[in-house]
Amino acid sequence: MNNFEFKNPTKIIFGKNTIEKLENEIPKDAKVLLLYGGGSIKKNGIYDQVKTALANVDVIEFGGIPANPEYAVLMEALKLIKDENITYLLAVGGGSVIDGTKFLSAAALYEGDTPWDILSKNIRTEKGMPFGTVLTLPATGSEMNSGAVITRADTKEKLAMGGPGLFPEFSILDPQVIASIPQRQLANGLTDAFTHVLEQYMTYPIGALLQDRFAESILQTLIEVAPKVLKDPTDHKAASNFMWSCTMALNGLIQKGVPTDWAVHAMGHELTALFGIDHARTLAVIAPSHYKFNFEAKKEKLAQYGERVWNITEGSTDDKAYAAIEKTVAFFHDLGIDTKLSDYTKDYEGTAEEIAKRFTDRGWTGLGEHQSLSPEKVEKIVKMAY
Ligand code: NZQ
Ligand code: ZN
Repeated sequence: MNNFEFKNPTKIIFGKNTIEKLENEIPKDAKVLLLYGGGSIKKNGIYDQVKTALANVDVIEFGGIPANPEYAVLMEALKLIKDENITYLLAVGGGSVIDGTKFLSAAALYEGDTPWDILSKNIRTEKGMPFGTVLTLPATGSEMNSGAVITRADTKEKLAMGGPGLFPEFSILDPQVIASIPQRQLANGLTDAFTHVLEQYMTYPIGALLQDRFAESILQTLIEVAPKVLKDPTDHKAASNFMWSCTMALNGLIQKGVPTDWAVHAMGHELTALFGIDHARTLAVIAPSHYKFNFEAKKEKLAQYGERVWNITEGSTDDKAYAAIEKTVAFFHDLGIDTKLSDYTKDYEGTAEEIAKRFTDRGWTGLGEHQSLSPEKVEKIVKMAY
């Protein structure tokens, strides 16, 4: 196992009817900006619950943060934060609203001229404006981590940011919010969380027995609850386990002391930036090709995953590893998620070359757990995913 340090300061408030606890978490003298997305919270009652809980708090609102939070929209919110002397941010939404809020948390205290530099120059945020979240969509783990991904439409970019100053102070996780989530987004959430675990697990053995079993147990739980959540999102047992699995998949715990990959996400983000494909679906497009292309380097963990998660007991290490990739693809298909780029766009020619060029331009010349995935290899993987 590798050496590691672990600190996660986010307070989780989990369970039925916990949104009413909001009031206890926000400082009494705060001037709050409540941030939300396209309006789902106004239809499903979450907005009303939040407003009731904030009855005694000085709060103004900013709605309209789109899926894949857009820089231009966030810059409008940043102006509001400055004009209104906001001191506390509250995200009510999924990964997009929470990530947008993290950008604002960083940008509000940023002293440079151009907040985009936080993303393009990879500036770590040591201290941000304090914020909390009410999670409405289990998927990203953003509610308990310090990362964010921001999109910029005019340059077709999607870049990551983060730093120890960007953990939410608290996150409220009420599994009842799942009841109103459309099937497409439920499938996305399951796929995103599943792939988060794979990115931190599908590398090479390093003797981290507990981390491996944490990871496998999250995968097993997601597989078990997936059909139940899709069939009946009001099934509280399934919803609770789905929600907590998504948070645990990317709150930093399972990646401690182990190598991590994240190349699937790096390539996937480009597919969202270029074609607007839902984040989770880009991962389902890239992951199978990535694992096939890097088969030799990853086959021991692929086989372990096959044995322990999919109960593949027959054959050699290679056989099990290959079967595990096939099982993964079948799982995505069962969720209704397509796994080829051509399923999403007819305009895919040249995509692999474009992504390889972008990575070269950014100096991303060695991704993955061995820092050996060159842009040439990225090009091949993306082509395999057409
Ligand atoms: O905008 P509203 O109206 O709220 O509707 C949203 C949106 O259309 C809807 N929704 C959310 N909760 C709902 C609901 N509809 C009905 N009932 C509810 N309770 O769902 C749609 C998608 O929401 P979004 O927040 O975009 O989804 P998700 O949580 O999957 O977030 C995706 C974003 O997070 C980033 C992705 O790249 C993408 O931009 N990620 C963030 C990560 C992180 N910070 O750690 C890691 C991930 O790998 C990912 O990159
Ligand atoms: Zn993801």
